[in-house]
Amino acid sequence: MITPDQLRNTYLEFFASKGHAIISGKSLLPENDPTVLFTTAGMHPLVPYLLGEPHPAGKRLVDYQKCVRTGDIDEVGDPSHLTCFEMLGNWSLGDYFKEDSIAYSWEFLTSKDWLALDPRMLSVTVFKGDENAPRDEESAGFWKGAGVPEDRIAYLPASDNWWAAGPTGPCGPDTEIFFWVGEGLPPAGSNKGTDPANWMEIWNNVFMQFNRIDERTLVKLPAQNVDTGMGLERTVTVLNGKTSVYQTEIFLPVIAAIEFVSGYSYGSDPARDASVRIIADHVRASTFIIGDAKGVTPSNVGAGYVVRRLIRRAVRHGRKLGIEGSFLSGPAMIVIERFGGAYPELVENRARVIAELEREEAKFLETLQKGEHEFEKMLPNLLRNPQRVMSGRLAFKLYDTYGFPIELTDELASENGMTVNRDEFDEAFKKHQELSRAGAGETFKGGLADQSEQTTKYHTATHLLQQALRIVLGDHVAQKGSNITSERMRFDFSHPSPMTADEIARVQAIVNEQIARDLPVTMEMLPLEEAKASGATALFGEKYEAVVKVYSMGDFSKEVCGGPHVERTGLLGKFVIQKEQSSSAGVRRIRAVLE
Ligand code: ALA
Repeated sequence: MITPDQLRNTYLEFFASKGHAIISGKSLLPENDPTVLFTTAGMHPLVPYLLGEPHPAGKRLVDYQKCVRTGDIDEVGDPSHLTCFEMLGNWSLGDYFKEDSIAYSWEFLTSKDWLALDPRMLSVTVFKGDENAPRDEESAGFWKGAGVPEDRIAYLPASDNWWAAGPTGPCGPDTEIFFWVGEGLPPAGSNKGTDPANWMEIWNNVFMQFNRIDERTLVKLPAQNVDTGMGLERTVTVLNGKTSVYQTEIFLPVIAAIEFVSGYSYGSDPARDASVRIIADHVRASTFIIGDAKGVTPSNVGAGYVVRRLIRRAVRHGRKLGIEGSFLSGPAMIVIERFGGAYPELVENRARVIAELEREEAKFLETLQKGEHEFEKMLPNLLRNPQRVMSGRLAFKLYDTYGFPIELTDELASENGMTVNRDEFDEAFKKHQELSRAGAGETFKGGLADQSEQTTKYHTATHLLQQALRIVLGDHVAQKGSNITSERMRFDFSHPSPMTADEIARVQAIVNEQIARDLPVTMEMLPLEEAKASGATALFGEKYEAVVKVYSMGDFSKEVCGGPHVERTGLLGKFVIQKEQSSSAGVRRIRAVLE
């Protein structure tokens, strides 16, 4: 058996032996990126470097990264889709390209010294070609050279073999590697093109040569990069001869904990098995999200809303297994115990994870009780309807006023021999969404920070603002979060009380003075300890490399930061604070613009 810990270590060791620097994965909550709620791929924290910024650890990098993707949420529970997963990644920043990338992957997967997978069980895909890039005969040639037979190579279109993290940002054609999960050995001629269901993707090597600026514009990147992502859970699955991630050590102990609290034994009923898998996935994802160094708590907005949805969906599936009270902390403890080695923040935040899960479950159980009570009150009237159809409007009222999920209204209705008019409900629901959360759905999709000139300016202004706040308010001011769009910046920082009008005016004046001084912005690479000793500010709780980039703005500010920044502060324009308000307990938020 090979465990997740072993695979992670073997991967790092292999790529280190090929001259890659081991860097640490980052938080699940991206800094400075308003377009996504979560880190969705291993490359996500590396975007500035893929776009051309030098990386302090060099041109060959390797790491493991926790990721969350909520786009596939309806597929969760099938054998291979997860909300939260780990990606093993290796990168070439303008160093090696297709040939070495393919050779490394093949050696790692099939060599007896490394994973020793049976080459007969593997197949690959390459890009078929379109107006953006040619048919990738080059990659196909390198695969054949490695020993992959012609009939195991499928040429597929951009929908399969062009990878981009979002509508804009670095992207390119990719080549993907699949493992056979059908019966026995794959028949001759079988590949991802001919038999998609029986081939499970385990690794994606992206040849990032382009930057998408907008729908119509694709420009060449300064360097030809390689970005790879190997799915840790799926690879552990195939290495252990299994066909589903839920049959591995990653999930079996979590499933056992769910069996324990529910009394249900996994494998007895397909529908309830799916509920067990959904709970297992969601409790793991919630534990990782709440237990992140930048910990999120369940709420009605942003990442907090996602974690709330995950917990509530888990609770609903718990009820399908006959669980009445709260139950998620048991399985969550198992997740912490299993993954705390690779992700020590889970152990550090254990108490908070358990408390937040329990609080959210209790809150939701109360919602459910209230909703059920209201339904009971409506029931005599409902039963008078000869068609036995509950109006969608009433179902919507239960949802809107009491937060009662439509699935449960459906269930209660059907227990009483009725159905719900879902069309009417959907219509009311849609209207409500359009009105109250216009655009919020967008943030559930992947995307990448807009790296335009304007956002770079805001990024530089953030450094000036932080230093000005420390001068005016004191050294206790520390950055708690930053969110930049091309229209404005938002900066969260620790400070116990509202700022006075005078303090705000002084901070604004100091920033504008530094802009007027037209300070040069310079970067140097230093060992982390040296950087800190030199007085550079760093983010508390962030994981840094051994060597970091330190950006200085003249003699005014010095921060550990990945960049990018503008070259001189004089480029920023006029800095205007629009709002100062509370963000959470002990944290203030400033919204500012550059005019
Ligand atoms: N960035 C690529 C992916 O996530 C490797 O599939």
